[in-house]
Amino acid sequence: MLFSLAVLLLSQFTRVNCTGDTSDDLSRIDLHSHFIPPSYRAALVKYGYGQPDGMPYIPAWSEESHLSIMKDANISKSILSVSSPGTHLVPGDDELARTLTRDVNEFAADLKKRLPDQFGFWASLPLPDVEGSLAELAYALDELDADGVVVMTNAHGVYLGNATLDPVFEELNRRNARVFIHPTSPCIGDGKTTQPASPLALYPGPVIEFFFDTARAVSNLFLSGAIQSLTSTTFIVSHAGGAFTPLIDRLVEFAPLVRNPDLTAESIRATIKKQFYFDLAGTPFPDQVYGLLRYVDASRLVYGSDYPFTPDSSVTGLGEELNHELPQVFPDQGDQKKVLRENAEALLK
Ligand SMILES: *[C@@H]1O[C@H](CO)[C@@H](O)[C@H](O)[C@H]1NC(C)=O
Ligand SMILES: *[C@@H]1O[C@H](CO)[C@@H](O)[C@H](O)[C@H]1NC(C)=O
Repeated sequence: MLFSLAVLLLSQFTRVNCTGDTSDDLSRIDLHSHFIPPSYRAALVKYGYGQPDGMPYIPAWSEESHLSIMKDANISKSILSVSSPGTHLVPGDDELARTLTRDVNEFAADLKKRLPDQFGFWASLPLPDVEGSLAELAYALDELDADGVVVMTNAHGVYLGNATLDPVFEELNRRNARVFIHPTSPCIGDGKTTQPASPLALYPGPVIEFFFDTARAVSNLFLSGAIQSLTSTTFIVSHAGGAFTPLIDRLVEFAPLVRNPDLTAESIRATIKKQFYFDLAGTPFPDQVYGLLRYVDASRLVYGSDYPFTPDSSVTGLGEELNHELPQVFPDQGDQKKVLRENAEALLK
């Protein structure tokens, strides 16, 4: 997520880069963009998420506005997902979560059915409700033609990699599913009872904590050992991995202490290269992306707009910045095409 403050800052990019197009086809596939159906918006407000993750408001969204930003930002196809806080809104209320999840998934499925060239979707799951999530993933993948699922970094304090979620991840793995990992605010809890974890609460969650929660969740996938049995799952991690990559050597260093001596730098590298993609939503340029490029090459990066949490002018501004930066990071035009669309095409097949 990037927000209004960034609009001013970023609008300059639209003016800077009028000449530097190196590829004639700038079209891109967006694996990180959000939809906000009216019923979901109403539920967010009703259950206390009118200012989600400390943000000032829930942004406006409509099918028309989404198609319009796609046109402006050269996005040929968008894979839509529900953003933070996901669809399990009240700890312990699985019924509400199941209803809301079904509702947003059917909304997205209808969009995909009507406009299959423009839209796909990552289906939501009512995690940490395991039984509800198993039912919903089967329905979404078998009946609704979802392209995969979206999971938040934690579900009321249950982090990805926690053994209580194993049945869901085992089933996703059995289906060779694509799992899009999206950040949410950190939380201390066991899925039913929770207490907020909001250090430096004066800053909205996306500013700092989203990157840390991404690092926390992906680290837990490795440290817990859960990842070892998920060899057929494809993960797409938001925001170039957030703060994950600087931690990798440290995870390895501490692996024996957390009873996971099998975790080595080589095993992490191999898993990431084989099973992980990283989207470029947010601010990977000019600097963040270089840490990630110590672990993966152009074949593992995909485009993400984060619309509408990143507002229109920032989506186009960041898109222009990407057009400008990409040839500097990847001089090879083939690599540029991979990042903009070919990797996404391959992974959606
Ligand atoms: C899983 O969740 C339980 C309950 O909150 C917690 O005690 C445990 O440490 C967690 N384990 C992992 C690996 O996340
Ligand atoms: C979209 O494509 C047009 C035509 O190639 C180009 O002028 C413009 O800069 C592109 N914008 C973005 C955000 O990629």
